[in-house]
Amino acid sequence: MAQRHPLHSICPYFAMFPEEFAERNILAYSSVGDVVYDPFSGRGTTVFQSLLMGRKAAGTDINPVAACISGAKADAPSLLQVLRRITELEGQIPENRPPSPTPFFDHCFHEKTLGQILYLREALDWRANRIDRFIAAMMLGALHGESHRSKLCLSNRMPRTISTKPEYSIRWWTERGLEPPERNAFEVLRELAKFRLKIGKPDLTGKVVLADARDGADVHKGLRRSVKLIVTSPPYLDVTDYGEDQWLRLWFLGGGSAPQAKLYADDRHTGQDLYWRFLAEVWAGIAPLAAENATIVIRIGGALERDVITENLTKSLEVGFKKYTVSLLGDVQTTSLRKRQTNAFRPGTKAGVEHDYTFALSKTISSKSSSRAIAVETA
Ligand SMILES: C[S@@+](CC[C@H](N)C(=O)[O-])C[C@H]1O[C@@H](n2cnc3c(N)ncnc32)[C@H](O)[C@@H]1O
Repeated sequence: MAQRHPLHSICPYFAMFPEEFAERNILAYSSVGDVVYDPFSGRGTTVFQSLLMGRKAAGTDINPVAACISGAKADAPSLLQVLRRITELEGQIPENRPPSPTPFFDHCFHEKTLGQILYLREALDWRANRIDRFIAAMMLGALHGESHRSKLCLSNRMPRTISTKPEYSIRWWTERGLEPPERNAFEVLRELAKFRLKIGKPDLTGKVVLADARDGADVHKGLRRSVKLIVTSPPYLDVTDYGEDQWLRLWFLGGGSAPQAKLYADDRHTGQDLYWRFLAEVWAGIAPLAAENATIVIRIGGALERDVITENLTKSLEVGFKKYTVSLLGDVQTTSLRKRQTNAFRPGTKAGVEHDYTFALSKTISSKSSSRAIAVETA
């Protein structure tokens, strides 16, 4: 890979795959001008890498943190636009700040920094405005982390990948006598913008929609029958609850001020039946987007045996892409997580290995449109 684009790492995300994985597959299975799609876009690696390589790109994710980060990468504003907006926001901050949502926030952020964060949380229209979305994505990346190592981090010491629980965090800081650093959020945003956009942005823009992956064909109507390549990684069986583990970032985007489990029903299926049915429903929901001959690359992990995954994943694709012939291409590549980026997973994760599958999808017969409720018998 040539130079790593600084926008890739705007904010970390669990179970993210590396740029090299996306790049390799985009190169192998698509050409310049093709459409590449990711129904579970996460931090937006597939979408952003596709744009960098001259492909059109789109995706969905149900988690606002993921949709904000990948949406910001898919349609980044210019550095000038970002710097102007930061100055405008700074000039409009009111004198009185709202109260802290809970005691956790007073332990986590210096009072001046918290005032700025609370203001930006209200002021940034990240859902509708692309410049605000980009600034919000930078805020998500800066919101918490190893502030003793980086001046560009706004919180008391915390991991950057996971939002730790409030009671645990307060105890940890109190036991060590740790106080939150005084950081100017506007200065941090300016520094980050200069770094993230220092080599510009792709000429092409893409679109990531905050939506259930099952609704892919509805929210991307303009892409019907045009997607040549899907590169994706679904939630793994019983591994991570993305909503709970990212609760502080979700709060910044308008969510509740405490962690909440099971916010998104498909994040952490525990039983195989519902899990494989979920995946079949997703494939059925995006099947109308696929070109007549398309490729789907899937990275999937978890504690299940590889043969069990192979059989059920194939079956789910056959059910979902029912107008297509589904054929496994080449060997399944299996990698131990220990050989991967250690911080891409929750500590103590049950996902010991990951498997990479490539399937060819070839249109066979035309039949009536599929219904959304799908039964997949688990092998
Ligand atoms: C393994 S992660 C994807 C990581 C991504 N490949 C990356 O590199 O960052 C799975 C994603 O699926 C999303 N997700 C869970 N249920 C979903 C649903 N029903 N529709 C769309 N996205 C969903 C989660 O929010 C999470 O971002």
